[in-house]
Amino acid sequence: MIGSPVTARSNVNVALVKYWGKRDPELNLPATGSLSLTLDGLWVEAEVGFGDRDADQVTIDGEPAQGVERDRVVRFLDLIRAQARCDGSARVVTRSRVPRGAGLASSAAAFAALALAGSRAAGLRLEPPALSALARRGSGSAARSIFGGFVEWRRGERPDGSDSIAEPLLEPGAWDLRVVVAITSLAPKAISSRDGMARAADSPFYPAWVAGVDADLAEARAAIRARDLPRLGHLAEHSALAMHAVGLAARPPLLYWRGATVECVHRVWALRADGTPAFVTIDAGPQVKVLCEPADAGRVADALAAVPGVERIVTCAPGGGAEVVAA
Ligand code: PMV
Repeated sequence: MIGSPVTARSNVNVALVKYWGKRDPELNLPATGSLSLTLDGLWVEAEVGFGDRDADQVTIDGEPAQGVERDRVVRFLDLIRAQARCDGSARVVTRSRVPRGAGLASSAAAFAALALAGSRAAGLRLEPPALSALARRGSGSAARSIFGGFVEWRRGERPDGSDSIAEPLLEPGAWDLRVVVAITSLAPKAISSRDGMARAADSPFYPAWVAGVDADLAEARAAIRARDLPRLGHLAEHSALAMHAVGLAARPPLLYWRGATVECVHRVWALRADGTPAFVTIDAGPQVKVLCEPADAGRVADALAAVPGVERIVTCAPGGGAEVVAA
């Protein structure tokens, strides 16, 4: 036994400038930078302990993990074991307050929590940049969930990925906003982000997408510095719609949206036409996330709840970074 188990908790994040394409699929190195907001209230907790068992035991939300899901966690544990030079088998138990595999960034929260709990349990004390690089290997967007508030994940230039890490731009308490999430389907998505990105890379629109991201990042940074919601919101909407346009033009095509997804977008645009600054973003799934002022969150939630096909509404404030909750 190396030490006692460690439990860490990490929030999901929503990308405002999307990560959509890899320059190295093995190391999870992105083709571009990306920028996100970490969200309070949607989290994954991971408990990790290393010992002398026959094999790794992985339990996800009360069920023994199987197949690809288990393999992904075991491969991630192998990275931690290699860094810590330990060969103990692990016992991993995760608990999530976010539906898995439905485009709500549960893997970002899960791998950020696993990186923190696993590295501590293996005796490592990694600084946040090194934790971010480790979390990235599990799921690219997990690199950002190590930090709270607004976060930028730099593309990095080095082939080994050592400079492809996230860094905080603005603390969660520094700009109070809300993200209203309209859940239109809780079914796991048919095409994972990894497969979606692989398909998108063959789209004729992919080079244009990659070429546009640096300008989007600069615009997002400036909007955040100025605490300018309309400027940030228009940019986030553009980034999301451009990302999905890449997939639409791929062969075979990639479309994560349901009818209710599109209807939610129109409702938000109608609210905006009536003077409410609210802006949509959509990840690799059918859910719609709406960025707005705290005072408008109730109105946005009511409008989205009235859309046929919307199953649930969750409203989130900016959240903090990954933290150890028990050791
Ligand atoms: O981290 P992954 O491999 O689950 O990819 C995340 C992709 C998007 O959520 C669609 C965009 C992003 O930047 O989070």
